[in-house]
Order: sequence, then structure tokens, then C-alpha cells
Amino acid sequence: MIEKINLLKAEIESLTASTPEEVEALRIKYLSKKGSVSLLFNDFRTVPAEEKRMIGQALNELKNFATDKINGLRESLDSVENIDPTLDLTRTAAPLPLGSRHPLSIVRGEIISIFSRLGFTVAEGPEIEDDWHVFSSLNFAADHPARDMQDTFFIQRNPDVLLRTHTSSVQSRVMEHTQPPIRIICPGRVYRNEAISARAHCFFHQVEALYVDENVSFADLKQTLLYFAREMFGPQTSIRLRPSYFPFTEPSAEMDISCNLCGGKGCSFCKHTGWVEILGCGMVDPNVLDACGIDSRRYSGFALGMGVERITNLKYQVKDLRMFSENDRRFLEEFQSAR
Ligand code: DAH
Repeated sequence: MIEKINLLKAEIESLTASTPEEVEALRIKYLSKKGSVSLLFNDFRTVPAEEKRMIGQALNELKNFATDKINGLRESLDSVENIDPTLDLTRTAAPLPLGSRHPLSIVRGEIISIFSRLGFTVAEGPEIEDDWHVFSSLNFAADHPARDMQDTFFIQRNPDVLLRTHTSSVQSRVMEHTQPPIRIICPGRVYRNEAISARAHCFFHQVEALYVDENVSFADLKQTLLYFAREMFGPQTSIRLRPSYFPFTEPSAEMDISCNLCGGKGCSFCKHTGWVEILGCGMVDPNVLDACGIDSRRYSGFALGMGVERITNLKYQVKDLRMFSENDRRFLEEFQSAR
């Protein structure tokens, strides 16, 4: 038995291999269940009791020796000397291609970040909505033209299942299950039945903001708007509020910022007025608070809503709305260096 062990050890010692496949073949030949080392272990049963200790030890040593040898062969194949000498190991690695974020995502992120510095948190709602959340709870009269088939996509001809036309629907969803103080912004996609052109699309993105608490005033709204405009477009930006109408706010206003292309001097972008419109806003109509279960005698609030495409156009001068959804890499790659 000892002789057999020594013979096998000598044989294993002289093994060589030049490919990983050869190493694997050796492993099978010697160390697998039916390999020659394992077979010797089977013979161990017939060894007389007084020799068992000595032979057992020799067998274990053989097995370890064979395992080390075969591992050693495998490692030597992986080692540096085996690397193709024609490869240039000093060459710098090929740069990893960097992706870019979509311009609308960049701007949405920036809007969220500005409002979160004022304590607003993000709320989301479904894109497939019902009449109550998109219109009725927001004080739209039953015959309001926005409910019209021309504006709204209805699903399966059911007037109560529709694609939201604005993210104001998230306001009512949040107010229904939260009591003030409420300070949320709602970014999301909205849909309108419009012919697609450079200036209109059947889907686009909005961010809605809502603040409801005791004693919220128009002054709070104005200060929030000014802060937002200056963070977004730079500290030299001025704002202007024009009276407007929305069913869900009273009073309502539209906000213009001083044209950030010409600095307010007048250019073709601002139609030589020096101002560009960027959002709608107002004090939440008490009817909306009451419809959503918030006591309008105790609480007041302001709301505002803006189009993300509009803000993005102002920041990056994208002239054609269709660019945002065409997945043209030449367009998207221009935003590689943007945040
Ligand atoms: N929902 C309006 C729209 O889609 C935007 C808007 C205007 C939202 C005034 C508001 C607001 O919250 O107060 O045109």
C-alpha cells in the first residue's frame, strides 16, 4: 500500500499541463470519485488495523499533495507569464461611454430640489384618473369646456375614466386623506387631445405645488414664486403676476419671469415684451378645500402648476416639443454634461 502511494505521488509530482482543459482532465483522473487517489482510499478498508494510522496519514497527505499540485497548475496558467506577449498592458483603458439624463428629468429634478429646500415633499397620483379628481373636486362646472372630448382623452368611451389633463388631480387625492399642514409637489405626465406640432403635444409633463395650513396668504405664494424663479433662472430674475382664472383658485394669477434670453430688453423669444409666462397659480378656492374634506374656515392655501417642457425650453432653448419624445441620440447626447 505504501509503495502504491509513493508511486502515485511521484507520478503526480511530474504532471504538467498547458491548457485549463488539460488541468481539468488531470483533476478528473486523480481526484474525482473514480480517480486514482480516491480509489486508493477504497483499498484503505483492507489495511490491517495496526497499519491503519500510518497509511491513513500517508493517504491524506497524498490527497492534499495532489490537490495542491493541480491547483498550482491551474494558477500558473492564469498567471502573468501566460498573458499574450503581444498585448500592451500599459495602454489606457477605453473610456466607459457615459449616458446622459433626459432634459426633462434634469429639469424635473431641479424643480423638486428647489421646492424640497422649502419643505415640500413629492406626492404622486395615477395617470388614469376619474372625473372627480381631475375636474369635479377642483370646482370645474359640469359644462366646463376642459371636460370636452376635444381636450380630454376618455378611456373606452366611459366619461368617468380618463387620462389626467393636469397634475392638479394629485392635490385633491392628497387633501382627501391628509389634514393640513400640507406641503407637496406633484411631478407627472399629463395628456391632452391636441394635434402634435412643434408647439403642442398630446402628452407633456407638469409639476404642481400645494401648500395648505392656517393663515397661508398670497404673500406666501409670491415669496415662494420669487424664490423658485431665482433659484431656477438666476438671482437677477424678476417676476410679474397677472390676474387670471382657474376654477380651482381664487384669486388666480399667471406668473411671468423676465426673459432670461435677453435679460428683459426684448427679443424674438419673448415677442419683444421682455417677459415670458411660466406658470399658473392662486389661492386654493374654498370650494376645493371643502370638497376634499378640509375646513375652509380654518385653513387656506396656495397652489401652482407649471409645464416642465416650458421650463426646459427656457433653460435650453429646445425649439420643437417633439424632440423630447423622439429618442434622437444626437439630441439627448447634448445633455451629457448637464446635471
Ligand atoms: N392645472 C393648470 C393647467 O393645467 C395649471 C395650474 C394653474 C395649476 C393654477 C395650479 C394653479 O395649481 O393654481 O393649466
